[in-house]
Order: sequence, then structure tokens, then C-alpha cells
Amino acid sequence: MPTPSDDPVGEILVSEVALAARVRELAAEVSADYADRELVLIGVLKGAIFFLADLMRALTVPCEVDFMAISSYGSATKSSGVVRILKDLDMPLEGRDVLIVEDIVDSGLTLQYLLRNLAARNPASLEVCALLIKPGARQVRSSPRYVGFELPDRFVVGYGLDHAERYRNLPFVAALRQP
Ligand code: IMP
Ligand code: MG
Repeated sequence: MPTPSDDPVGEILVSEVALAARVRELAAEVSADYADRELVLIGVLKGAIFFLADLMRALTVPCEVDFMAISSYGSATKSSGVVRILKDLDMPLEGRDVLIVEDIVDSGLTLQYLLRNLAARNPASLEVCALLIKPGARQVRSSPRYVGFELPDRFVVGYGLDHAERYRNLPFVAALRQP
């Protein structure tokens, strides 16, 4: 039987209440910035789906959604730097106002790749909304326009974020205890 101290889910870094409040604030900011426009939200599978669902429900501008899947980490906890499209978008972006919705920006490599790839499809505008950002992200020139929370450099799980596909369903963001 695992004891509480064996639980790999450690300290809660962002509570369920804090997440809900910040997501509403971000949605208000996005809605104001895109007033009188129509947004295409691009969710980056799988981690961003919880954030995207909550953000999108709180937006007051007309919006559509599409998804992309990109390989980054596998089941390890360090960036491989290898980015590959596993699932591409269904819709064209030409002339559209596009907002990439990301769960977390760590090294920023994934985002850098995505921005380059999507910019080549000639959207009218292209911005990023990231729920979480880690300190390493400052090393690359891909800072998101909208950021939910800045985190310390720790591996986190919950609210969509996984470790080896587990813990996405936690309603909060917590540090993962690592051996
Ligand atoms: P980056 O390319 O290093 O910025 O990594 C971005 C991707 O790695 C995110 O979209 C996540 O899927 C994953 N990732 C980075 N840090 C964490 C973490 O602390 N927990 C879970 N997944 C993470
Ligand atoms: Mg991700």
C-alpha cells in the first residue's frame, strides 16, 4: 500500500480556485483585445485541452477551435529538442486571427517551432496564450502575449499536464516529486 509520503504528486503550486480566477482574467483580456474580430484558437494536444476548454467558455468574442499534436517529451521530464507534428490542423489559417493555446512553456522550443510553422500559413495575426511559463523560456524569443502563471523550474502535473500520461485529471497544478 502506498503511504501519503510515497505519493509522487507533491506541493500544490496553483490551486483550483486560483486557476479558475486567472483563466477568467485571461479570457476577459483576450476578449477585449479581439473585440469585433473572430478568433481561431489552436489547442496543442494533449496538455492544453483543459485550459482551452475553460478559456474558450469564458470568451465573449466569436471563436473557432482546432487542434495540433506535437511530440516533445515522450515520457521523460527533460526537453529532447525534437519537435514533430503528429496531428496537423483541419482548417486553413490564411487571413485568420490565430491564438495558440499552450499548457506550459518550458525551454520554449516547442513554441518556437509552432510559431514558425503557423506563421508560414499567413494568418492575419498570430499570438500565444500560455497558462504556465518556466524560467528557461526567457532564453528564447518566443514570449507569449498572455501568461497565466510563472512557475519555478520544477516539473509539474495536473490541469492537463502529465507525467508519462498520468495526472492530467488533477484539478490543480502540483509539483512532481522526483527520486
Ligand atoms: P518546451 O519545448 O521545453 O517549452 O516544452 C513544452 C512542452 O513540454 C509542453 O507543452 C508540455 O507538454 C511539456 N512540459 C514542459 N514542462 C512540463 C512540466 O513541468 N510538466 C508537464 N509537461 C511539461
Ligand atoms: Mg504540451
